[in-house]
Amino acid sequence: MRTQVVIIGGGPSGLLLAQLLHLQGIESVILERQTRAHVLARIRAGVLEQGMVGLLAQAGVDARLRSEGIPHHGTLISYDEEIFRIDFERLTGTSVMVYGQTEVTRDLYDARDAAGGRMVFSVENVVIHDADRDAPFVTYDDGHGGQRIDCDFIAGCDGFHGVSRATVPASVRREYEKVYPFGWLGVLSHTPPVNAELIYANSQRGFALCSMRSPTLSRYYIQCTASDRPEAWSDEAFWTELKRRIPAEQAESLVTGPSIEKSIAPLRSFVTEPMRWGRLFLCGDAAHIVPPTGAKGLNTAASDVHYLFEGLCRYYNDKDPEGIDRYSERALARVWKAERFSWWFSALMHRYPDQSPFDLRMQRAELEFLRSNEAAQKSMAENYVGLPY
Ligand code: APR
Ligand code: PHB
Repeated sequence: MRTQVVIIGGGPSGLLLAQLLHLQGIESVILERQTRAHVLARIRAGVLEQGMVGLLAQAGVDARLRSEGIPHHGTLISYDEEIFRIDFERLTGTSVMVYGQTEVTRDLYDARDAAGGRMVFSVENVVIHDADRDAPFVTYDDGHGGQRIDCDFIAGCDGFHGVSRATVPASVRREYEKVYPFGWLGVLSHTPPVNAELIYANSQRGFALCSMRSPTLSRYYIQCTASDRPEAWSDEAFWTELKRRIPAEQAESLVTGPSIEKSIAPLRSFVTEPMRWGRLFLCGDAAHIVPPTGAKGLNTAASDVHYLFEGLCRYYNDKDPEGIDRYSERALARVWKAERFSWWFSALMHRYPDQSPFDLRMQRAELEFLRSNEAAQKSMAENYVGLPY
């Protein structure tokens, strides 16, 4: 088999890239290790920057997003019994859209199906060959024996645990990592959200986040230890702890219910450079990871897709390699700003085991400065709604 672009990974990055390329007449094949159902069962953050909303519109998959997505013009930040709002609309003139990543992925799968997009699921032993030469190819097993796809380019959209990043020689790769000493215990429940906007809570007992997927589906998180396990938390224990971390007014109005999903996510900051090696381009979680505090994972994958899509279009349509040659530099410039914001917001909102009394006073001073200073709020708002591509 031959195609123009082999895309490894059928998550949001790979699907969005494939759909955008298709609309430009550029062929691709997606190779996905899991089943479609497995991919769609993943619960991930659901706060979309306007840049991502625009890309989904460009890909022609924003109909449901526009009818079911919830525009959020601000967010609440609390510390103990104090609470204040960051007004995105007033500070930046724009907002974010709350719409689950699962729904984004579902919309993209539907679009790929409608376009007759080639997607191979449950593949095994994907291997990238000759990425540093002019005739790369990918081999894999599809249950009917070994397969080979010759191509012009390979997009490594296979997430943090994929094969693409490891294909870049260790002598070429530069990796940067920070592992946080805690995780997020998340619960999904068929209950109305405690507040119309998100609440990011810093409390003496640790961080908490009140989020949502719809007016009847809520998503809550509490900071837990890195070694914690979901099965160690009953629903009642979770709700009790959450109520102790948010202001009393919201705790009293919180509607609890049975968890329909309960899981723990570890927190990590990670970047690999460069994001290109020959004809292999790394995209999304394959190249970088952020702590979910700033909801930048999906949104930074989207900006990678934007830069790679632009570069491939210029190559195929104008025979101009400048876009793909500058992909890594352009993508990383925005990746590092998203890493910085996610790291800063995590430091502001979480309790770290090694914090001294002075550190805690610095954290509170930072919260009070953010609460009282327009420039600080504008900076936070501009990062949260999404820096320009
Ligand atoms: N071969 C084929 N597919 C693979 C391989 C492999 N060797 N390894 C991983 N995959 C698939 C995974 O099964 C997954 O479906 O690649 C896909 C990668 O998807 P994501 O991990 O979702 O990464 P990405 O598409 O970049 O989206 C980033 O997803 O995980 C969230 O927080 C993350 O919101 C961010 C977004
Ligand atoms: C979520 O709804 O899952 C969510 C929202 C905002 C975040 C992280 C997660 O910062």
